[in-house]
Amino acid sequence: MELIKTNDYQEMSRVAADIIIQKVKQSKQFTLGLATGSTPEGLYGNLIEDQKQNATSYRHVTTFNLDEYVGMKRSDPNSYHYYMKTQLFDSIDIPVSQIHLPKGDATDLGQECLCYEELIQANGGIDLQVLGIGQNGHIGFNEPGTSLHSKTHVVELAESTREANARFFPSIEEVPTQAITMGISTIVQSKQILLLVSGNKKEQALKRLLQGKISEEFPASILNQHENVTIIADKEALSGV
Ligand code: GLP
Repeated sequence: MELIKTNDYQEMSRVAADIIIQKVKQSKQFTLGLATGSTPEGLYGNLIEDQKQNATSYRHVTTFNLDEYVGMKRSDPNSYHYYMKTQLFDSIDIPVSQIHLPKGDATDLGQECLCYEELIQANGGIDLQVLGIGQNGHIGFNEPGTSLHSKTHVVELAESTREANARFFPSIEEVPTQAITMGISTIVQSKQILLLVSGNKKEQALKRLLQGKISEEFPASILNQHENVTIIADKEALSGV
């Protein structure tokens, strides 16, 4: 596991963007796994800026997002479909047909999970997965206690996760109780993983991750077993290490 220490959120975002841009430029075909939340917003801003300045093209890139809330329409401003559209996809030249997120509004959620997993495999897997981390160590929406062998599945969100994400909603009652997420095994099958960690709130989670002990009670700990993980963390997140 490589650890890149950065001074602040801006530097973390730039370093992550540079790694992705280089890979995208080098490849004829590239499958990128993407995350939502506050953490990757700066990264996406840098990718957009780079496309404007250097014309980096995403026409050969396919994307798979980690997760989506259950029961939320794609047009809902709190959906991850909407987040990705506004934070990145509307501003780069990626073909819409190459963008994939789990459909949280599917009528048969079990079938949707199977299809999503199959689609990732049919594409040859994910070349590079961007990850954030929850304060409780969740990756995607894989909460503590999730099997390390899990594939794409429906999860009940932990109360602490709903509270952490309530800032995006008018009130906590409106935060969904379920989500579809890539499983832990889906995530670790990615060839390369970039984990972004920023801010004091993530200090304890990063400290626990770097201790190296693998446990279902702390889902991100599985990254210690992966052979190509780069953590890009800022000073605040690193303050407990
Ligand atoms: C959310 C998302 C995760 C994200 C994490 C951290 O619930 N499902 O993919 O990495 O929590 O979010 P943030 O970056 O806003 O702290």
